[in-house]
Amino acid sequence: MISKQIQIITESLEETQALGRKIGMLLEAGTVVALSGDLGSGKTVFVQGLARGLDVPNEYYITSPTYTLLNEYPGRYTLFHVDLYRIENPVDLEDIGLYETIDSDGVVAVEWADKLQKDFLSEYIALHFEILGDESRKIVITGYGHERCDLIEKIQKIYEEKT
Ligand SMILES: Nc1ncnc2c1ncn2[C@@H]1O[C@H](COP(=O)(O)OP(=O)(O)OP(=O)(O)O)[C@@H](O)[C@H]1O
Ligand SMILES: [Mg+2]
Repeated sequence: MISKQIQIITESLEETQALGRKIGMLLEAGTVVALSGDLGSGKTVFVQGLARGLDVPNEYYITSPTYTLLNEYPGRYTLFHVDLYRIENPVDLEDIGLYETIDSDGVVAVEWADKLQKDFLSEYIALHFEILGDESRKIVITGYGHERCDLIEKIQKIYEEKT
């Protein structure tokens, strides 16, 4: 599958949220966002921003759905937030009842997406978070499939203009 990758370094929680918000504003219905990286690396913080970019109302506070597996928030598209940390065996979106979401008006953000079976996904974006220091995170963003590569180019433009 065609893919395209960029790398962004953030220096604060707010910068990671801002990245999430900007990406959220660009997302199309049916996008799967696969998040990976160590505990406390910023996956949930990113999803908080993503929610803002998808116009999820401010009164919804986004936390890791660790005990519920899945949280759902209304927005420009419905945001499904999944956390697979406690899942033992790899699952696919059908197992968690979200397969139809790819063809509908939803966006799916998955933490610990190393446990998500991605073989059947035709398009998705993946973000890998790495802790560089107290407040510094390296975020590698990869788009898989033509449309997600276009998304990576849009993100790239936003960040090139800034620097
Ligand atoms: N640049 C940064 N980006 C994101 N978070 C940061 C940054 N610098 C410091 N932090 C802190 O790192 C923590 C990130 O927590 P978060 O819950 O988002 O991690 P997570 O990857 O979702 O972890 P888990 O795997 O436990 O769900 C927060 O406490 C946040 O304040
Ligand atoms: Mg989390």
